[in-house]
Amino acid sequence: MLKTRFTERFGVEHPVMLAPMDKISGGALAAAVTAAGGFGLIGGGYGDRELIETAFTEAGNQRVGVGFITWSAQRHPEAVEAALAHNPAALMVSFGDGEDLVVQAQALDIPTIWQVQTLAQVRQAMAVKVDVIVVQGQEAGGHGMDRGLTTLLPAARDAAEQDQIIMAAGGIADGRGLAAALMLGADGVMMGTRFWASAEANGPDAAKQAIAAAEGDRTLRSKVFDVARDADWPWKYTGRVVGNDFSDKWHRDVEGLQADIEVQRAVYNASAEDDFSTRVVIAGEAVDLITSVEPAAKIVTDTVEGAAKLLNGAKGYLSA
Ligand SMILES: Cc1cc2nc3c(=O)[nH]c(=O)nc-3n(C[C@H](O)[C@H](O)[C@H](O)COP(=O)(O)O)c2cc1C
Repeated sequence: MLKTRFTERFGVEHPVMLAPMDKISGGALAAAVTAAGGFGLIGGGYGDRELIETAFTEAGNQRVGVGFITWSAQRHPEAVEAALAHNPAALMVSFGDGEDLVVQAQALDIPTIWQVQTLAQVRQAMAVKVDVIVVQGQEAGGHGMDRGLTTLLPAARDAAEQDQIIMAAGGIADGRGLAAALMLGADGVMMGTRFWASAEANGPDAAKQAIAAAEGDRTLRSKVFDVARDADWPWKYTGRVVGNDFSDKWHRDVEGLQADIEVQRAVYNASAEDDFSTRVVIAGEAVDLITSVEPAAKIVTDTVEGAAKLLNGAKGYLSA
């Protein structure tokens, strides 16, 4: 239905990618997105080899890629090796200088994807000739930086070579987002939050329902849960989450949280896994656009059909 540089280059039906959300994008979800004509990426996350092996097994015969958190993957070369041994549809890196990982994949003829948060990183990714640059806006769920997608995306398009494939990420959950991203210069979209609230995502149903119920106003970019969970993230990256009692208490007092970390980490860890007044639900502003948990295939189809309909009607804006 939609033809872009991305669908042509990767031989897929739809310009829709699944974000490699750590444990959430397991083999079943990635396979479902690929089977629906999109591009599924399993979450290699922080570089857990066992998790990766399980995900590839679950993906079965469907062709899926794998995405890593760059700075963490660089501490776990064995996990990267294990992922590459599966000859993934692509290796994606995000959050840090991923040149070494990109070069490692290129040597094996494995397509490469680099998710960027700034224009400077767009240039860095282009310099190593990645196949796909994913431009992530601050609306996105999970870790990211401060730039909004509506300027960063067209600026990336302007900075890139004519044939560079660029995908948009952050706040996209339906056909409107996909159509707008194409107009801003993208070749397709990468969605995370929308697929988190899908039947195949790995995670408690209560978290999926929380996403369906939440409003974007309640999300925030914060350091609180990295500190509470002892995740060793470089300070410049914040994580967009659905705010709760725990973040209400500490978001404006991260130093206070750090000063009392032993006690507060114990509080966090002692909470029930589905107690989302304390436990984090990682999700982006796109929660505004999500009201139900759906099968991944329906999400892909609805998004593409919605975009095609809008693009078809776009001539209506032109005066005769
Ligand atoms: C629950 C969750 C976990 C995420 N985990 C990762 C991750 O492990 N690696 C990564 O590169 N990006 C991760 N992301 C960010 C996505 O790659 C992507 O930029 C984001 O989901 C796009 O914005 P959206 O959530 O509004 O669709 C995560 C996002 C979410 C919502």
